[in-house]
Amino acid sequence: MDIENIKSQFPIFKNKINGKPLIYLDSANSSQKPKNVIDRITKFYSKEFSNIGRSVHSLAVTATNRFEETRDLVKKYINAKFREEVIFTKNATEAINLVASSFGEKFINKGDEILITELEHHANYVPWHFIRQKKGAIIKFAECNERGEVDIDAIKKLITNKTKIIAITHISNVTGAIMPVKKIVDLASEKEIPVLVDGCQGAPHLEIDMQKLGCDFYAISCHKMYGPTGVGILFAKKKWADILPPYQGGGGMIGEVKKNDITFSDSPTKFEAGTLQTAEVVGFSESLKFIESIGIKNIIEHEKKILEYALETIKKNNSVNVIGDPKKRGSIISFTIKGIHPHDIATIFDEDGLAIRAGHHCCQILHEKMGIPASARASLGIYNSKDDIDALSSAIKKCNKVFNN
Ligand code: ALA
Repeated sequence: MDIENIKSQFPIFKNKINGKPLIYLDSANSSQKPKNVIDRITKFYSKEFSNIGRSVHSLAVTATNRFEETRDLVKKYINAKFREEVIFTKNATEAINLVASSFGEKFINKGDEILITELEHHANYVPWHFIRQKKGAIIKFAECNERGEVDIDAIKKLITNKTKIIAITHISNVTGAIMPVKKIVDLASEKEIPVLVDGCQGAPHLEIDMQKLGCDFYAISCHKMYGPTGVGILFAKKKWADILPPYQGGGGMIGEVKKNDITFSDSPTKFEAGTLQTAEVVGFSESLKFIESIGIKNIIEHEKKILEYALETIKKNNSVNVIGDPKKRGSIISFTIKGIHPHDIATIFDEDGLAIRAGHHCCQILHEKMGIPASARASLGIYNSKDDIDALSSAIKKCNKVFNN
């Protein structure tokens, strides 16, 4: 694969950071955007913009069509059966809040159990905490093992006849562990328990086929998929999309509004109140086209190669402790360097134009479990090459020189 050519499609790499070429290893946080996505947003605002789903003038019809065409592309990309199953939200966090709120309101009562894991980032814990508080529900955490993964048995042993929903990440944003989602869905469906998958890290780096995965809900963060910020997607199986109550009220999501009664429209409109992030959704259509132009299988293969090289390279440095050793790992490596705070690591890296994330990565539960307050994290995207990993390795050596000499 011609990575230099792919990289050249991302205008950000033409900039220097602290006088150095940008080496971007923070894609798990948010990916960079190809020119086609940026241009599509500019074109939409310059030539096609109008609010959607309301007015009947030509611009409004065109804008509505462009927006809905993106929904069709998403439906195809994730292999959903119905377009009603594709709901646009402002981010994956809102997608999970939608389910926690609507499903929780209708189906979760005092003493009911919500099963999550110790790997979850805050977006897949805090919304459930609200329901715990509101309804007096219980949250159970499936334990993460010393490899930094949660196996099927850890889930199995926590399922009871009180379990109302299982909410799990697809890939841990700290250890990179890829969860056995299909096995968990099979196990849960024997007991008719719905499964929500937090696909923040899964969707950009794995094949996501809703028919193969079989989950009930899948939350997607579009800005991690080379798309604009302000767009998330909730896949909700039709059987849920049909019966769950709306999440937010306002224009666009109603059927009829009377002084003494209000009816609502069907999914997806029922869940899309107010003026939506039209330009960003339209821009996201180009992200999907970009991914498809390379092919998700090729993306997976490329990232796997770089990931293996990165693990091999940084493990050679004795001062580095890689967090977790999952059997199946996505494009994420979190690590600590002996005696150096992760924020100091990130600051030293930044001097050389190398962008990583440092902190708890919105995953305090897991860091507490690992007995560390924070870690440094390098995460990959399609634009990364072995050269970037060599730069990471040199930056680690530089850090040691600065702090450990
Ligand atoms: N954006 C968050 C991350 O960096 C959740 O993993």
